[in-house]
Amino acid sequence: MTRFHLSPTEPSLAAEGFGLLRDAYLRARVANPLLPALDADQEARLQRRVERAFAYGGIAAWRGGSLRGFMIAGPSFEFRGLVASLVPEFGHAVAAGEEADLVGLLYAASAEQLVREGVHLHLIGHFAADLGTTSALFELGFGAVVREQLRDLSDVALGDEPRVAHRAQLERVEHVRHLDSWRDVAPLAAAHAAFYRESPVFVRKDAALDEALVELDAHRVDGDQLFVYREGDEMLAYLIVGRCAGGSEGRLLEGTSTAQVRSAFTVPVARRRGIGAALLQQATAWVRAQGFERLFVEHETANLCGGAFWRRHFAPYLLFSLRYVDRTL
Ligand SMILES: CC(C)(COP(=O)(O)OP(=O)(O)OC[C@H]1O[C@@H](n2cnc3c(N)ncnc32)[C@H](O)[C@@H]1OP(=O)(O)O)[C@@H](O)C(=O)NCCC(=O)NCCS
Repeated sequence: MTRFHLSPTEPSLAAEGFGLLRDAYLRARVANPLLPALDADQEARLQRRVERAFAYGGIAAWRGGSLRGFMIAGPSFEFRGLVASLVPEFGHAVAAGEEADLVGLLYAASAEQLVREGVHLHLIGHFAADLGTTSALFELGFGAVVREQLRDLSDVALGDEPRVAHRAQLERVEHVRHLDSWRDVAPLAAAHAAFYRESPVFVRKDAALDEALVELDAHRVDGDQLFVYREGDEMLAYLIVGRCAGGSEGRLLEGTSTAQVRSAFTVPVARRRGIGAALLQQATAWVRAQGFERLFVEHETANLCGGAFWRRHFAPYLLFSLRYVDRTL
């Protein structure tokens, strides 16, 4: 095995670290060209992210005096009832071809530090197409929990049924413009929150009606757009879309011309009839008309029906994986 020399990172290494991340981003963009181009603005934003990461202590790996990789975990926070820490997608990179040797070395050194600090839940954001890193993480005991995906703004493929059926469905989608009408969707939004309680692998959400109203109001205040699907008087589905802020999700897209599906739900009895696709089509038309360049979605990988729907219409570029370190040892 190739020998590397490990050392603590210094803020002054940020520029060299950015060089490695830049190359990793460009490789990810070959696999998913919907990732924003690395123009001067995007490069400056990513560089700032890397500089902020280097303000924290992490691990650097050297060979022959040149930086071959780094890994920097962010501050700890509570996640699923445990103390967790995230190595963000811009908080680590290794030179191409070194993944098999280096990812494990860097993680072992980082993990030692984290466990010493009482952090037992380790999360990492990594490019989906970086199979070297993904398989090294899998071997280390990580499993995927969240996937970030993109789609272009072409029309949504609407399946095999006759066109007329699709037209009828598209016509039943209403772009809700009355501010008061957002309240009508609250029971459905509460049912959506309850959906996440069906499985212990999901991050639970509060399923109460008033919580749903608060969340919907936050979307409305953010300028998000609401699309609902009705048959007769019955509301069967909704989808919320808005600008991707790139705060806690889609951070590689911050400051770019990207819209985001913020929420979507079809009542269980009406699923797999093309309603989700009809909502997505009408939302995509709105996103296109606003001049955005791409559409983003983030979802839990354990969400079997939602995940399959997003995979059908979007292309992945990022995964978040998680490893739990036994506290009883
Ligand atoms: C995501 C969701 C809104 C899609 O709505 P929908 O009205 O069922 O969507 P469509 O009928 O247009 O598309 C269904 C497609 O999704 C995929 N899909 C959905 N459920 C699936 C399952 N259990 N297994 C495999 N594929 C599945 C298939 O590609 C399916 O197409 P098909 O029926 O032709 O095979 C719906 O599944 C839902 O409400 N899920 C629960 C909430 C949720 O996950 N929201 C998103 C949070 S990120």
